[in-house]
Amino acid sequence: AAPLLVAIDGPAGSGKSSVSREAAGRLGFGILDTGAAYRALAWAALQAGVDLDDDGAVLALLESWGFTITMRGEQWVTVTLPAAEGVVPSDPVDVTAAIREPSISGQVSRVSKHPEVRERLNAMFRRIVAESGLPGVVIEGRDITTVVAPDAPVRILMTASPEVRAQRRAGELPGLSHEQVLADIVARDAKDAQVVDFFNPAPGVTLVDTSELDFEQSVGAVIDIVRTAR
Ligand code: C5P
Repeated sequence: AAPLLVAIDGPAGSGKSSVSREAAGRLGFGILDTGAAYRALAWAALQAGVDLDDDGAVLALLESWGFTITMRGEQWVTVTLPAAEGVVPSDPVDVTAAIREPSISGQVSRVSKHPEVRERLNAMFRRIVAESGLPGVVIEGRDITTVVAPDAPVRILMTASPEVRAQRRAGELPGLSHEQVLADIVARDAKDAQVVDFFNPAPGVTLVDTSELDFEQSVGAVIDIVRTAR
């Protein structure tokens, strides 16, 4: 049987990633963090010296590098860089930690803006979910409820005020001021929102505002919505 799909969208720092991971674990579901794929692509493009604004070049890179996401427990992302001429292909590089660096967050919107890149990655996400063999998958990103899995039986838009989101991110990024983190988040959201709307719930999508919720309450809210839908 196809896995039960739980689609969750939201802006940076809404709690979506950590809440999705915990809820998936408690439900016995897999977790697919689609932002990690865009981040890995940005990482690979920077590594390869590809112009991130050049859609053709980014697309070519996407075709030529190997890329795996594992969905069980903690999500791991590895990238296999294409071997240069006359060079033995390298082992896959584990980029799980590297793609969380602020330098990647600051550049990733440049690769995610290309429509053909999005189509290619969306096809990959759907394939990973279909072939997972899991009872359910929580898939999270920006356009999951609207584009990647608009027919998912559970669709949630998770939001929080910009101040709360910056506060949460600042906690994860010691060394950066609250003001700097807030400015970075607002700038990235503005760029991303030109491509997909992840601030307003599409018809049928349940809005979960975590501004006033702690982690445990946010996880509980998601699990309640899934249980009601089953
Ligand atoms: O969720 P996260 O902050 O890791 O996403 C990183 C970036 O990937 C976003 O800023 C956005 O540019 C892109 N993204 C996207 N569509 C998704 C998930 C992420 O465009 N479904």
